[in-house]
Amino acid sequence: MKNLFIRAAAAWLGLAFVLLTGLSLAGCGKHKKAIVVGFAQTGAESAWRTANTESMKAEAELQGIILKFADGQSKQENQIRAIRSFVTQGVDAIVLAPIVVTGWDVVLREAKRAQIPVVIMDRKIETTDESLYVTFIGSDFYKEGTLVADWLAKNAGGRTKIVELQGEPGSAAANERRRAFADGLKNHPELKLIDSQTGNFRRSEGKQVMEALIKKHGKEIEILYAHNDDMALGAIQAIEEAGLKPGKDILIVTIDAIKEAVQAVVDGKINCTVECNPLFGPKIYSTIKQILRKETVEKQMYNQDELFDSTNAAAALPTRKY
Ligand code: AHR
Repeated sequence: MKNLFIRAAAAWLGLAFVLLTGLSLAGCGKHKKAIVVGFAQTGAESAWRTANTESMKAEAELQGIILKFADGQSKQENQIRAIRSFVTQGVDAIVLAPIVVTGWDVVLREAKRAQIPVVIMDRKIETTDESLYVTFIGSDFYKEGTLVADWLAKNAGGRTKIVELQGEPGSAAANERRRAFADGLKNHPELKLIDSQTGNFRRSEGKQVMEALIKKHGKEIEILYAHNDDMALGAIQAIEEAGLKPGKDILIVTIDAIKEAVQAVVDGKINCTVECNPLFGPKIYSTIKQILRKETVEKQMYNQDELFDSTNAAAALPTRKY
C-alpha cells in the first residue's frame, strides 16, 4: 500500500515537471527579453535638446526598448551619478550625451568592467582610452562652424565686425564651433571678431549677454554669430529692444535650424542657420542592437546636416520636424 502511494506521488511529480518545463520553454520562444538602455542626457537647455530627448523617448517606445532616462540638469556630476546607477542596475547599454569633453574616463571604465557597451551621443569626449566607448553618433560641429564662416564670407555684404555668443564652456559643441569659425576667418581677414562671450546655449542668457554687448559696443556690432538658435532668438529680443532690426542692422548667423529659427529666416530676422539634427533616436537604437548582436560598428557616425538661408528656408519650413 505504502509502495503504491509512493509510485503514484512520483508519477504526479513527473507529470507536473514535464508540464512546467514545457510551459516555460514555450514562453521563452514567445517573449524575448526587452533591451534596457540607460540614457544620461545633459539637461534641457534648449529647444534642440528637448527635441533630442523626445526622439530618444518616442523611438524607445516604438521599438519596445525600456529606456531609463536621467536628466543631468546641466551638471557633469549628475551624469556621472546616473551612469553609475545604470551600471548597478545592469542595463544592456548606456547612451551618454556628455555635457563637457573631459572627465569621463573613471566612470566609463566602471561601465567597461561591467561589460556594458557605451554609445557617446551628440557631443564628443576626450579620453586616454578609446576602448571605453563603442561608438560616437552625432553631428560634425567643426563642419557646422565652417559652413557658417563660409556663408558669411560670401554674404556679409561689406559688414565686418562680429560678436560671438558661445555655447556651454568646455562642451564639444562650443569648442568645435568656435575653433572652426576662427579658422574660417583666417582666410577672410576683412571679417573681425570684436567680442566673444558665453550664453550657455540658453535663450535667456543669449538675451542678457546681447544686451550687455550692445551696451558695450553700440552700433559697432554688424554681425552676430550664435552657437545655437536659442541664443540667437534671445539676442533678437535684445536687438529689437535696442531699437535695431535683426537680420538687417545686425546680420545673424546661427546653428541648429529649429523650426522657430527657420521661420525667423523666412521673416528676415535670421540670415542663415546651419542644421544640427537632433532626431537620431532611430540611429542610436539600431546601433545598440548591432552592438548587442556583437556586430562591428563604425567608431564615428555623423548625421547629414543642411544650411538654411533666404534661398531655401520657406520651402523647407512645412516639413521641419523639430
Ligand atoms: O550639442 C548640441 C547643442 O546642444 C545644440 O546645438 C544646442 O542647441 C544644444 O543645447
